[in-house]
This record gives sequence, C-alpha cells and structure tokens, in this order.
Amino acid sequence: MKFYPEERFSRTDCGDCGTCARVCSSHAVHMRDGYPVFNSRRCIGCGHCGVFCPENAFGMEPLPGKALTPQQYRELLETRRSIRFYSDKVPSEEEINTLLSVLTQSPTGVNLQGITVRVISGPDAVSNLVKPVRKMLDILSFTGFTQIIGKITGMSDYIERFRGGEDVIFRGAPVVLFFHVPRKNPTGYTDGVIAATAVMYHAVSMGMGTLWNGIAEKLYPFARSWHTPRTRGTRLSAVLCVGYPALEPKWKAPSRIYSVLN
Ligand SMILES: Cc1cc2nc3c(=O)[nH]c(=O)nc-3n(C[C@H](O)[C@H](O)[C@H](O)COP(=O)(O)O)c2cc1C
Repeated sequence: MKFYPEERFSRTDCGDCGTCARVCSSHAVHMRDGYPVFNSRRCIGCGHCGVFCPENAFGMEPLPGKALTPQQYRELLETRRSIRFYSDKVPSEEEINTLLSVLTQSPTGVNLQGITVRVISGPDAVSNLVKPVRKMLDILSFTGFTQIIGKITGMSDYIERFRGGEDVIFRGAPVVLFFHVPRKNPTGYTDGVIAATAVMYHAVSMGMGTLWNGIAEKLYPFARSWHTPRTRGTRLSAVLCVGYPALEPKWKAPSRIYSVLN
C-alpha cells in the first residue's frame, strides 16, 4: 500500500524543523512558510519524512524493540546453510505467508515498484515442475544434444541422474519460490535478490532452510511450462527452495575468502 505523506501529515503536530525535507530521497518535499509541501509526482512512498520526524507529525507506528546485536547477527549468518535434504513437514500456507511478510521491509531502488513471489507448494506441485524438463531432455538426448552438452560442461553424470528420476534441480524441496520484479524497474534484478536474501534469513529464524536455485533460474527462459500469464511484465531474479531441514549442521562452515581494497 502506498504511503502518501501529504495525507498523513498534521500541521498541528509539525515542529517546523524541516527534517522531512532534508531526508527526502527524491526531493519531493520542500519547506514553505515553515511547513512542508509535497510533490506527489516525485514521491516514491519510502516514508523517510515520517520515520525521521521528531514530532511524529505523519502519525507513524512506534518502532519495535532493539535490533539484533552484532553477535546475534553473526550467529544468524553462521547458522544458515543451503538445505538439500528436507523433512516430511511441508510448510503451511500460513507459515509461507509469515515467511514472506518480511518483504514489506525489503529495500528496493524505486520504492513503489513491487515484487511478486510465485509460490509452488507441496511435493506434487514441485515434481510437476520437473516432469516437463525431464521430457525435454529425453527428446534432446535422442538427437545426441544432451550428450554433447554433458561432455562440454562436464555434467554428463548430473544429466543422467536427472533423466534417471532424481530431482537434481529442486532437491526434493517441498516449496519453491520464484521472485519476479517489474521489467521496467531499473534496479529490479537487485531488488529481487535483496528480497530473496531477506526471506532466506527469515526462514532460518523460523526454523526453516533454503537453497538458492541458480539452475532453475537459468532454466527458466527455456522451461515454458513454468511460465504463467500472471507474471507478465516481470522478469525472474531469484529462485529459492524452502522447507524444514532434515539435517542440522553440526559445525561451523569453513571461512570464505574476500578481499578489501583500501
Ligand atoms: C545464486 C546461487 C545459486 C545457487 N544455485 C544452486 C543450485 O542450483 N543448486 C544447488 O544445489 N546449490 C545452489 N547454490 C548453493 C551453493 O552451492 C551453496 O551456497 C554453496 O554450496 C555454499 O553452501 P552454503 O550455502 O551452505 O554456505 C546456489 C547458491 C547461490 C548463492
């Protein structure tokens, strides 16, 4: 739902400080005769004017308690692992809705352009995604095409396991999330990745686990049966498998390498 500052603003509560104009990300607020004036065409609905107002002249809700400590944040990161073995417990519709509710706070480059998450839920629905891809590979292997691709990419064994019935794409996940962003959004791809990242950590805090699915993302343009007219005008920016893990990590993962250039 769009945040309209001009509708929320109360002149009687305004302290005349000009903070709203200074923090506005899109220069949609300026001060005139001691009060803010709003340019609704420029406004992207980010709510900064209200969030930083010392007098709460925009009628914002109070913040919840303290954020995570650095130590708690590190623990969240260290506890997360890619999940490739899922328990039989399928996340309920309500649990998935709660999981996705963090999207209300996920930052986007242009606030008003939203994110659409397509939820494929239940083992049958997920295996229905796999079937047409397997069929496509079967047809291609008649022509010798998959054998050549397998040799070039070194993935012959992987392709054969898939053709033999193993779900090497979704790894038996009970739920798959496709993150779509509006095509016209200039920062769309990044917005979608940030959104999926927020969901990934929320999943850990809810006792679930995720697997980023680069294979499904790359296959998506070719897997026409995965498409739906309901995502017209969008592009895919991330695919996440979700479920309750069947295995818990016992030890910390080895550290990753990163560089800092000063
Ligand atoms: C963008 C992205 C795409 C990935 N795609 C796949 C995939 O298609 N299949 C898979 O099994 N793992 C996939 N992974 C998981 C990585 O292999 C995994 O992150 C890596 O093994 C490190 O393990 P960790 O996530 O537990 O730290 C992907 C990870 C990322 C970040």
